[in-house]
Amino acid sequence: MNPIERIQSDRAQARRLDDPNADLCFLALADSAGHASVRTLVLREISEKCITLFINKTSPKWHIIDQGGDAELLIWYPSAQHQYRIRGTLTEIAANTIATNWQRRPVGSKYLDHVYEELGAQSSFIESREDLTNKLTDLRSSIASDELSVPPSATGVSLNYSSIDMLDLNKEDRIHDRQLFTRTGNSWQSNVMIP
Ligand SMILES: Cc1cc2nc3c(=O)[nH]c(=O)nc-3n(C[C@H](O)[C@H](O)[C@H](O)COP(=O)(O)O)c2cc1C
Repeated sequence: MNPIERIQSDRAQARRLDDPNADLCFLALADSAGHASVRTLVLREISEKCITLFINKTSPKWHIIDQGGDAELLIWYPSAQHQYRIRGTLTEIAANTIATNWQRRPVGSKYLDHVYEELGAQSSFIESREDLTNKLTDLRSSIASDELSVPPSATGVSLNYSSIDMLDLNKEDRIHDRQLFTRTGNSWQSNVMIP
């Protein structure tokens, strides 16, 4: 079984069934001191080669990724009752791919990417929410939404698979099916695990 085809098929079904997790994933990172952090991200593309995510370079998560921190990405589709824990290396994607995708972002998210450039880094502290809304009002009045350009801190990363731990809860008597898929070159090897 190819685990990527299975995730793609689960995602298509999740979208048809309005599963709120259809386009989401949860990215856990460990920094060089071993401190863990986890956050929800929009899951962009799932291809045979990698999973693509879009983030901002001013954020704490980018600094961990840039320093080669350990990563695991979790996908849970309630509609399929399948969990996937995906390990691999995170690398920055090409500038032209970032530019094309950034233009498709919701308008509010585009302005927020400019806030990170002009007001402060993502996840940094500010005096009040008003500082943020005032900055957004300034930006909206000085640059029309269709003239916004990709800020240098907007980026994307691809997770290049090394292994996928798949847990299927659909079996009888709660005896779940669990398999570890390991990638070697372009092929996958699977090993059954105790769930
Ligand atoms: C449904 C949902 C989708 C999100 N999608 C993204 C995303 O695609 N990119 C992103 O940088 N943050 C996204 N966030 C916000 C992150 O979870 C997180 O709060 C933010 O990126 C700051 O994380 P950091 O301080 O660990 O860098 C999303 C949050 C939610 C609840």
